[in-house]
Amino acid sequence: MLKNDHLDAWDRDNFFHPSTHLAQHARGESPNRIMTGGQGVYIEDRDGTRLLDAFAGLYCVNVGYGRTEIAEAIAAQARELAYYHSYVGHGTEASITLAKMVLDRAPDNMSKVYFGLGGSDANETNIKLVWYYNNILGRPEKKKIISRWRGYHGSGLMTGSLTGLELFHKKFDLPLDKVLHTVAPDYFRRDDLSLSEAEFVAHCASELEDLIAREGADTIAAFIGEPALGTGGIVPPPAGYWDAIQAILKKHDILLIADEVVSGFGRLGSMFGSGHYGIEADFITIAKGLTSAYAPLSGSIISDRVWKVLEDGTDEFGPIGHGWTYSAHPIGAAAGVANLELIDRLDLVTNAGKAGSYFKKALETALADHPNVGEIRGDGLLCAVEFVADRDSRTFFDPSAKTGPQIAAALLKEGVVGRAMPQGDILGFAPPLCITESEIDRVVAATVTAVRSVL
Ligand SMILES: Cc1ncc(COP(=O)(O)O)c(C=O)c1O
Repeated sequence: MLKNDHLDAWDRDNFFHPSTHLAQHARGESPNRIMTGGQGVYIEDRDGTRLLDAFAGLYCVNVGYGRTEIAEAIAAQARELAYYHSYVGHGTEASITLAKMVLDRAPDNMSKVYFGLGGSDANETNIKLVWYYNNILGRPEKKKIISRWRGYHGSGLMTGSLTGLELFHKKFDLPLDKVLHTVAPDYFRRDDLSLSEAEFVAHCASELEDLIAREGADTIAAFIGEPALGTGGIVPPPAGYWDAIQAILKKHDILLIADEVVSGFGRLGSMFGSGHYGIEADFITIAKGLTSAYAPLSGSIISDRVWKVLEDGTDEFGPIGHGWTYSAHPIGAAAGVANLELIDRLDLVTNAGKAGSYFKKALETALADHPNVGEIRGDGLLCAVEFVADRDSRTFFDPSAKTGPQIAAALLKEGVVGRAMPQGDILGFAPPLCITESEIDRVVAATVTAVRSVL
């Protein structure tokens, strides 16, 4: 129990929460939950309620809560040198070591890593570097960026534009121009139900080809995508999708940004989603799993071919005019080093693959026959159940019924945190990578109870 019993009132009076119904929260109509502790896959609030966090915060606490190794690394760094910048060639032992550790784990064609603070700013960095790259190459018209509907890439100006979810555009005057969206690689939600998976992939590819033809390949700089869709519904790509997309991008000399903010460092059961799905990216965005959220840190990993052009650019035009005060913050970097060591020591990438298969099978066994379960899908420790009003005709529920949020709320009552994903009745799971089979059994049993109580 916290001593301060004013927290509820102070929260409603002073605290602007992200992604929150502001008016309902201020009026006290929605609950606030004040978190106080965590251990392993469990978190605890100030009332002593213990919850199994099957979404790892915002799919970021990959090593689980309460890891003293990381806490101690952060404390040691803060005592020794809490801050120094990384401009004009400065660095710290932690930031330089982490850069090497990231590159050692990244695909072979990667060359350097630029460190930021969160996934959104890392993607902003990527887009700026894509534009810089084409300017250096003398292609000032080649600047548009293609992303997918249902993609999530952040909520900044450019990254909120790239995000393909209505909530992130509405009333914000987004998307900005230079951003184009193409079809979401979501086979379950295909418009034409008669398409086979292979035909749907061909449809995604032809939609992309048509978009490029309409806009002109010489105006399009890059394509950004998560290896598996995350916030837009947790959807692994249909078979052959990335091969088909990459062939088109290569043909038109369009760079590929793999946004691995969720998939990086093990979530899919491989170190990176790029390796997992055979993606050869020009940029890889990392954040969340880089420090397991013990401190804010993100990164843009840049390929050899892009790096060469950036280097040449500074020879011609002088130092690159890009940087944040907190780029490569030593405390974040110290957390990152300790986190990656822990992931290796506990072999969490392997566990994510094994536990993920167990989780998906257990969900299928428990729920596949339920008349309102449209699809159970996943890869590694990223999985989801999508609910429908009618399975045979794949009729969705009326969104105003808020079926997905109701199920997530019922799950919470059972002591388990899942996430109602936006734009659909989709219950998402992305637990810490250290989750055990018995903890998964608990999540599945609670999910069954929650589904039965709502449907
Ligand atoms: C794939 C992806 N990219 C980017 C972001 C944005 O990261 P942040 O919220 O740290 O800015 C997220 C956040 O969930 C994400 O899932």
